[in-house]
This record gives sequence, C-alpha cells and structure tokens, in this order.
Amino acid sequence: MSMFKDMLGAEERLITNEYALDYEFIPKLLPFREEKQKQIVNSIKPLLSERNGRNLFVYGAPGIGKTAAARWVLRDLEENTEGVIPIYVNCWQKNTSYKIFLDICEQMGYKFLQNKKTTELFRIIQKDLNTKAAAFIFDEIDKIEDFEFLYTLLNEIYHKSIILITNHKEILTDMEERIKSRLMPESLEFKPYNADETYEIIKQRARLAIVEGALTEEALGLIVDSATQKQDIRTGIHLLRESTRIAEDESSKKINIRHAEKAITKLEDFQIKKSSDLEEDTRFILSAIKENSEKKIGDIFNEYKQKGGVSAYKTFQRKVEKLNKLGFITANKVCDKNGNTTILSASKKLTEF
Ligand SMILES: Nc1ncnc2c1ncn2[C@@H]1O[C@H](COP(=O)(O)OP(=O)(O)OP(=O)(O)O)[C@@H](O)[C@H]1O
Ligand SMILES: [Mg+2]
Repeated sequence: MSMFKDMLGAEERLITNEYALDYEFIPKLLPFREEKQKQIVNSIKPLLSERNGRNLFVYGAPGIGKTAAARWVLRDLEENTEGVIPIYVNCWQKNTSYKIFLDICEQMGYKFLQNKKTTELFRIIQKDLNTKAAAFIFDEIDKIEDFEFLYTLLNEIYHKSIILITNHKEILTDMEERIKSRLMPESLEFKPYNADETYEIIKQRARLAIVEGALTEEALGLIVDSATQKQDIRTGIHLLRESTRIAEDESSKKINIRHAEKAITKLEDFQIKKSSDLEEDTRFILSAIKENSEKKIGDIFNEYKQKGGVSAYKTFQRKVEKLNKLGFITANKVCDKNGNTTILSASKKLTEF
C-alpha cells in the first residue's frame, strides 16, 4: 500500500478548466431551458425578416439561468445570423442612461467618446442601429436609476427587440406609463430547477471543469442537495469549485463527502450573494474594481475615494478580501519594481468554451 498513490503530485490539479467554474461562463448546452430559449428566439426572430421584434420581460429568482439563457441566444444570433446587432448590458454595472449609451457605443466599436453628452452618444449609435436591426438585453433592470434610455430606444430605433431581465417582477408595474405603453412586453417566468435537473446541471459542469472520475457520487449528492434546497445553481457551482479546491489543498485525488461538507460550512459562514445583495459600500468597491479591472489595489482605492468612497484603506482592504472570497473578484499578489502589490480583477467576462 502506498499513501503517495492516492495523493496529487505537486503540479497536479483537479480543476482542468477554471473558466467553466466562473459565474459568467455560458456552457454550450443549457439543459432544461430549451423552451425558454425558444421564446427568447421567437421574440428576436422577426428582425431577421425585416419585421419588428417583440419585447420580453424575463423574471425569476436568482441563479436559475435567466442571464445564461438570454446570453446564449444572443451569442447564437451573433454567430449564426447577420443583420441584427446584439447588445447586452448589465444595468447593475451601467445604471444610468449615459452609462448605457456609452457602453453600447463601446460595444459597437466607437472610440473617442470622452466629454460627450448622453444624447450625443445616442446619435452616434442611432444611425448604425437603424440601418440594421438590434436585439437588446438589459439585465438586472431593477438596478437602473433612470429609464430615459429605454424611452429613447423605443421611440427612435425602428427594428428592435428589447429584453428586460430581473428578479423583481414588480418593477414592470412601477414603470412609467409612457414607457410601459410603448414597451408592451410579453412576460417570461423562469422557475427554479428541481433536484434531478440540478443534479444533471452540476454533473455536466463537473465534467467540463474537473478531472474525470475525481468527484465522488457522495460529494456530488451533497452539493446537489444544498443547491436544490437553495434553489440556486450558482450556489451549486460555487460549492463544486470550493470542494475541488479543498480537495486540491489536501492533495487528494478524489473530491469526497468531507470536502463537500467543508465547502458547505464555509458557504454558510460566507453566504454567497448576488452582487446586488452586497452591502452598499462593498458594492461600490466592486464597481470600482469592475471599472478598473487588473489594476493595482492602491490605484483602485484612489479611484474609489475620488468617486466618493467613504472607507479607510484598512476597511477597503477587508471588503476587497470578502469580495475575493465570494468569488466576485480575484486578487493576485505580484512583485514589481516598487515592491509587493496586489492586482485586482473582476470575475471573468463571458467566456466561450
Ligand atoms: N440549464 C443550465 N445549464 C447549465 N448551467 C446553468 C443552467 N442554468 C443556470 N446555469 C448556470 O448557473 C449559474 C447561474 O445562472 P444565471 O447567471 O443565468 O442566473 P440568473 O437567473 O441570471 O440569476 P440572477 O437573477 O441572480 O442574475 C450560471 O453559472 C449559469 O451558467
Ligand atoms: Mg442574471
């Protein structure tokens, strides 16, 4: 018997594809969401034959594939069709009409956008959008501070489909009448996955990301139970990643039930949250990191202060550490000519597999 045989070598890893465990990773297959995807496709499809698209209001609880399904369709549209410009905006990051139009300009490849007003930014993209058609997704729409951009798009873009996504169904009722009456969206509700569906999804993700055969059925079972109970696939993916890291730390070749238990205990300590559930200052720090991704912690702190951040450096550091633990960012220690520092990056963007 050899103890070494059951241990990972120093260079060996259990995770074969980190991307596939990223929250924003969109797998090639999205099982159990085909019907929802079809409905999203149907709202966009008329644009391909130069008719007007339909608008959709997508709602449902966190972590159940709304963003993944919508982005999947947009990616399919981009790769397999022509004539429709796909635009995806996360309104938690871009929460004003100005930021949204600036983001759309950038997505469409425009540069030299400094010092332009909101209406000027819109004029830049209007021409292009109106020579073709556009499919817009505005995700986390409840985080938006002003709806003027929506009114502008509804009035001034001819061929379009607008898809709004949210956890909060009420937002539609609360919308101004002048916008509601123009938007007239169909509603599309996403319901949580059941235990069998959760099992399939997590197992599929493990297949993409982890050494074959490493995840024991018992550990998978525990992860699936927890994600089913919380009705949140994001939690399941997080637990999968954490259990695997814990197993790696112990140089174990298998991810066993003890590793999964440890990951679950950690989760309870550090309840995984949606960015929108983070406390206000932490959210503000996260937005500073998103806007300055891959910069030094000190520079990001200065940015944060300049924009009105209130925390002292120590508190800022503590909150950054929390964001790191929750998986919203990664913090990499590096050594440059001025000594040691930490580079902060926001979680990776949508990544193809
Ligand atoms: N059917 C599925 N197949 C594979 N992965 C899935 C499926 N549904 C969801 N996921 C994964 O679960 C995670 C959470 O999904 P997603 O981000 O789409 O949730 P959401 O409904 O938009 O949540 P929120 O309201 O919090 O934004 C993502 O990593 C996504 O890839
Ligand atoms: Mg989402």
